[in-house]
Amino acid sequence: MTGSWASSVDAHLDWVPGGGRRGLAEAVRKAIRDGRWRAGVVVPSTRALAHDLGVARGTVTRVYADLAAEGYLVTSQGAPTRVADGGGELLVEPARIPVVGAPRWTLEPGRPDPSLFPREQWLAATKRVVQRAPHEVFDYGDPAGSAVLRETLAVYLGRSRGVRADPRRIVVCAGFTHAITVLGRVLVDLGLSSMAFEDPSYARFRDLAAGAGQRVVGVPVDGDGVRVSELDSPAVVVTPAHHFPLGVTLAPARRTALVRSGAVVVEDDYDGEFRFDRQRVGALQALAPEQVVYAGTASKTLAPSLRLAWLVLPGRLVEPVVAAVESSGARPPTVDQLVLAELISSGAYDRHVRRSRVEYRSRRDRLVAALPAGLPVSGISAGLHLVVPLSLDAEASLASVAGRHSLRVEALSPLWMDQERRRGGVVVGYGASSKAAFAGALEALLAVLRELTG
Ligand SMILES: Cc1ncc(COP(=O)(O)O)c(C=O)c1O
Repeated sequence: MTGSWASSVDAHLDWVPGGGRRGLAEAVRKAIRDGRWRAGVVVPSTRALAHDLGVARGTVTRVYADLAAEGYLVTSQGAPTRVADGGGELLVEPARIPVVGAPRWTLEPGRPDPSLFPREQWLAATKRVVQRAPHEVFDYGDPAGSAVLRETLAVYLGRSRGVRADPRRIVVCAGFTHAITVLGRVLVDLGLSSMAFEDPSYARFRDLAAGAGQRVVGVPVDGDGVRVSELDSPAVVVTPAHHFPLGVTLAPARRTALVRSGAVVVEDDYDGEFRFDRQRVGALQALAPEQVVYAGTASKTLAPSLRLAWLVLPGRLVEPVVAAVESSGARPPTVDQLVLAELISSGAYDRHVRRSRVEYRSRRDRLVAALPAGLPVSGISAGLHLVVPLSLDAEASLASVAGRHSLRVEALSPLWMDQERRRGGVVVGYGASSKAAFAGALEALLAVLRELTG
């Protein structure tokens, strides 16, 4: 049977035309689980199966990639795709529990499109890493992170973001979420127990810093970014390339003033790879590597579920941060760290970021073109989100109106600490939805805005 494919496809696959990608994937899973597609058997080529079923070849390619990711199929470059060992019997079923009440459309900020995840490249890199890795890779590993990844990041961050990165000063952590907790704790231990955040900013990080023992205060943001002259804390967390949520870029004079302020600056470069209009804004860290903690993450470029992020630290913070990461017990798996290093050094990561940038830019353009003319939309030059202003009254109805249109979006005003300064609006994350769902999500948003603004 190996290598063969009976012509009556329907007899082998319980497949109903019109079931789409999901239907086809389920039919192949079932064929494997039932033992009709046995372990080790070469599956039909994407071209042959697409022809027999009368579907686009791309549909079959995606289904095979999905099933390879789930462990049903084994793909490798230059070799035919086969059914994985175990014939499906030992494989984990994908979760099928429907999420009750989940909105149909999402424009939630801070999320990349999960359907853009480079599955094939990640799989191929994982295979190369696991095949080549010395046995030590499966040991506990260096608490600072894989040396291979740190060396790769040092080169990558210098090239792509202008960061002055020495691999010995890089620490890998489980997302910025983990980083801010660790930094909050380390700075308290060093006697720096007040941490300023931009006002507005992402509330979750403020809460985590407070949980780590920091007294959290706000510094206002205007069209030039954070108002450095009002900073009065020994540490400050900023998003200089593309402020979250307002989207402004920190002005050159403020950049200089900030690094001269004497405060430890945590530079959250969460979406620095996605700059659309202007010259790329390099990292602040390059101005003062002994003052600035640079923080990057794979959550926007690849996927938040990886929990992969990195810090480039001033020399004096390296040891305490590594110790705090170790005692936190959280660390991304070494294999994943090596896979990321492999993706970066093979060029696949750059290609993926470039492709994603083109996609997000086109969504941004569609969104801006579709919004009512004259709306002072902000934050459009970079990143995965923009802000549509609303009155506070209109914003108060946002949750209920968006709920009726089955749309997930975020309100702007709750992100302020200072209640007096609050402004209303919608933070629209145009990365979050899949490519196929974006048009529907956009329609839903326009309907919501029409209702809210009359
Ligand atoms: C402002 C900001 N910084 C950083 C991050 C990344 O956090 P993490 O690396 O924990 O996913 C996010 C994610 O939503 C964010 O909104």
